[in-house]
Amino acid sequence: MCGIIGISSNKSVSASIISSLKKLEYRGYDSAGIATLFEGKIKEVKSEGRVDTLEQNFDLKNLKGNIGIGHVRWATHGVPNSVNAHPHSSDNVSIVHNGIIENSTILKKYLIKKGHVFKSQTDTEVIVHLITENLKTNELEEAITQTLKQLHGSFALGIVFKDIPDLIVGARRGSPLAVGYGPNENYLGSDSYALKSMTNKITYLEDGEFCIIKKDQVLFFNEDGTKINKKILELSSDDASYEKGDFKHFMAKEIEEQPNTVKTGIKEYVDKPNSEINIYNFPWKIDEINSITLIGCGTAYHSCLMAKYWFEELTQLDVSIDIASEFRYRKNRFKKDKLYIFVSQSGETADTYAALDLCKKNNMKTCAVVNVIESSIARDANFVLPIHCGPEIGVASTKAFLGQILILYILALKLGYLRNEINKEIYKEKIKDLQNLPGLIEKSLLVDNDIQAISSTFNEAKGSMFLGRGFSYPIALEGALKLKELSYVHAEGYPAGEMKHGPLALIEDGMPVVVLAPRDSYYKKTISNMQEVIARGAKVLLITNKSKDEIVSENIWETIEVENTNDDLLPFLLTIPLQKLAYYSALKKGYDIDKPRNLAKSVTVE
Ligand code: AGP
Ligand code: GLU
Repeated sequence: MCGIIGISSNKSVSASIISSLKKLEYRGYDSAGIATLFEGKIKEVKSEGRVDTLEQNFDLKNLKGNIGIGHVRWATHGVPNSVNAHPHSSDNVSIVHNGIIENSTILKKYLIKKGHVFKSQTDTEVIVHLITENLKTNELEEAITQTLKQLHGSFALGIVFKDIPDLIVGARRGSPLAVGYGPNENYLGSDSYALKSMTNKITYLEDGEFCIIKKDQVLFFNEDGTKINKKILELSSDDASYEKGDFKHFMAKEIEEQPNTVKTGIKEYVDKPNSEINIYNFPWKIDEINSITLIGCGTAYHSCLMAKYWFEELTQLDVSIDIASEFRYRKNRFKKDKLYIFVSQSGETADTYAALDLCKKNNMKTCAVVNVIESSIARDANFVLPIHCGPEIGVASTKAFLGQILILYILALKLGYLRNEINKEIYKEKIKDLQNLPGLIEKSLLVDNDIQAISSTFNEAKGSMFLGRGFSYPIALEGALKLKELSYVHAEGYPAGEMKHGPLALIEDGMPVVVLAPRDSYYKKTISNMQEVIARGAKVLLITNKSKDEIVSENIWETIEVENTNDDLLPFLLTIPLQKLAYYSALKKGYDIDKPRNLAKSVTVE
């Protein structure tokens, strides 16, 4: 959610802040702003819309000052407009904020009584006036610690002070924040991606910590204001991943990257010559784990659901799944012999991180399946299984979904074998099949012509259904989510067997329905369900796998056949046409494919 950048330098900072904000726009993008300090004054410019709009509205090149902060917003309190955009400033303090201040209403009343005048509808603005108030009676560090203690909720903050013109304060609770180190300048950023174009030397703040950044010095403090030392990480430079190359959109690139990212994931965990899976440094004995709960949000939750089917197929483990925002408030019965697996591409999703934190507070076994290995979830879990997909910039997750389910499948295979719940022959056979997956994905990507013609029907319909049974059901949910978040049309993933219990009433003449019916053990039942919707006028797009057997049904509107493989791996291939369907639907509508409306890549607020 949203992005922060701050720079303290020996030269003008506005150009660097603007270019960094553009790299952060994938996190949130309904409004943007920048503030610099120059000749004892805070100069604040901000506007609704993208960073480009900010540049069009203001002459940022002449925005002087060697200290500055910038922000791209994803609104939680107050409509997206120039008044509610960040930074928010008083006469002597300017702030940018990621997160939610839960006690902002009470604080606002207290501050208004103290004579403070508010301009915006945001929760953030209370921080500006609170720290201004606390500075009246405290030195800087005292004022900071006192202010942070008065705030309830989550925040990553960047703060500049008119009367202290050589520093930026950063503070973190529940929303990621990093410090970067450069030549004669230092940086503050909500993630390493924003800082990577300026430095690969990064320090991450932990919850409760704050920092004071000068051009030639960075100090860190814990929540009591005690100075602390923190290590500097050197991040790998994978800049090529951050460019679209010849692709029109990051999403298109990331869809096409999937054969390679799956190949990388397999290489990271599978010893091909010995047909073995290596999960190094697994911190628990196999007999210490008798059940698993998988937790995630959105697409990551669909990965959890997909994994549940594989764990049930390959092991005797008791497997449950939960949406993170539900899990964190449920009356959980924590069990010592349960492994809690947190799935998250960004590793910063607030609900997933909060669910992990809850498990950690109960001393549970925690494992993170993430793409960003420097992320909060990766850093705080007992054990991390990276998915090795490289940066995923498109807000709609594609390669990370395949990466997540790949690593979860590999884990299920390994645990099933170690627990003697699948025999060596099956284990080795499945590992061998896995080696063919990248090539099969490559072939499945060649559906563009079919899909482009089909996608218009989904755009014109008032809604659509995505149906599947067993292994295909999680993929039906994922396909529906992709279409929703990219084309802004209603689409519902549903268990094929459940349609007759109500949703069949939705089916009307010409309604597009995607039916995922690979020739697995659910095939015949799913074809029957398909005929039920065809009989009521649905236009069925059947997605199945190639077979010499004829499809036993008529009046199918369109059929797409993916390559053949063992049943376990068919979900990977079924996903590809659905990703492309969503992509081409959105392309036809002319929507912003990499930054869909109302969304953000990493949801770091509740
Ligand atoms: C998926 O296309 C969406 N962008 C969204 O559902 C996403 O999967 C969800 O917000 C979880 O994000 P995470 O994997 O970074 O935790
Ligand atoms: N809650 C703040 C607002 O609505 C910050 C939102 C964000 O994280 O961008 O302005």
